[in-house]
Amino acid sequence: MSKPIRIVSVVGARPNFMKVAPIHRAFKQYAPEYEHHIVHTGQHYDAAMSDAFFQDLEMPTPTVFLGIGSGSHAEQTAKVMIAFEQTCLELKPDLVIVVGDVNSTIACALVAVKMGIKTAHVEAGLRSYDRSMPEEINRIATDAICDYWFTTEESGNRILKESGFPEKHIFFVGNTMIDSLHFALSKAEQSTVLQELDLKKGAYGLVTMHRPSNVDDPVQLQSLLEILAKISSERAIVFPMHPRTSTKIREYGFADIIRSGKQLVITHPKGYIDFLALMKDADFVLTDSGGIQEETTVLGIPCITARTTTERPVTVEMGTNILIQPNPQAISTALHDIVHLPRKQGAIPPLWDGKAAERIAEILVTQCIKAQ
Ligand code: UD1
Repeated sequence: MSKPIRIVSVVGARPNFMKVAPIHRAFKQYAPEYEHHIVHTGQHYDAAMSDAFFQDLEMPTPTVFLGIGSGSHAEQTAKVMIAFEQTCLELKPDLVIVVGDVNSTIACALVAVKMGIKTAHVEAGLRSYDRSMPEEINRIATDAICDYWFTTEESGNRILKESGFPEKHIFFVGNTMIDSLHFALSKAEQSTVLQELDLKKGAYGLVTMHRPSNVDDPVQLQSLLEILAKISSERAIVFPMHPRTSTKIREYGFADIIRSGKQLVITHPKGYIDFLALMKDADFVLTDSGGIQEETTVLGIPCITARTTTERPVTVEMGTNILIQPNPQAISTALHDIVHLPRKQGAIPPLWDGKAAERIAEILVTQCIKAQ
């Protein structure tokens, strides 16, 4: 019997887990000729930021856990590179899959490509054109060196083609994050998180904020917290807080602002199923995340994105997402409009149908790996 073809998918930070879980499932139908392994860099390591997602998404224990943890960008990226090179020497993958735009994505792509291992980028071609975002640098650099590009939306196809990447290796497959949403929606129906937090369906706003541009600057963070505290006198606000944000709140001494919010509920980061349950029954979502713009579009929940740019324009063009300046006045106006004016009706973007990972596996098996 010939040796199985070995594929390694990299996960590192929270938004990677829901993108890789469906890819792992999709490769099962190609076993035993194809083996799919998950390598976890450990960029995110807290139970709430990592382990909970493996359970909720029914992912197996990773084949390798690199245990990198936090650090400066250079430190984190460099540590992932050194450890992943060793992993590649040991596992000898025939193909590496990286997803999204986190530091682990560029670190592992750079290692694999330089070792002569074919590398595929899932969620390729997205651009915010804001180079102050670390994720934008990761996207540009990862796309520049990969061999195969799998895109979620038309803007990605266009950007990659305009950049001169070979069209025959650009595959418009849809969104694996939405595959996970389809997978988990019935479980989210069973979640008891609303009762636990004493929230009523459709009567609360869900908030997430963790971008360095919103939370690292004390003036910006203070004004965001003040507006949330103010809004919470009229409507319950639930804010599952990213560790970066809670650390900054402690560091800057802003706990009192939170305490002043009448119905402002701060929680630890939620697992995937509970977060989905909170999202699908929210009146609106206010966020600076990338993936939440996509999930709310599919769920039809109004999403206010407090960022000056989005790398996911289809969520604004077709979906329920609106972009606003991340300042208190713009947030107040947007929330007032959501409550008092007719809401933007969205549609689901093409191929966001829960089958993106199946397309990726099929294309890799039939068109890419065979041709190598
Ligand atoms: C990273 C990604 C971002 C993604 C986000 C989702 C990059 C450049 N950014 O940002 O695209 O939207 O993850 O969460 O890769 N921390 C913990 N426990 C953890 C993880 C982080 O306490 O499990 C704390 C640490 O203090 C750390 C800080 O959060 O220094 C930031 O973590 P890091 O992974 O560096 O970046 P994120 O802001 O999470």
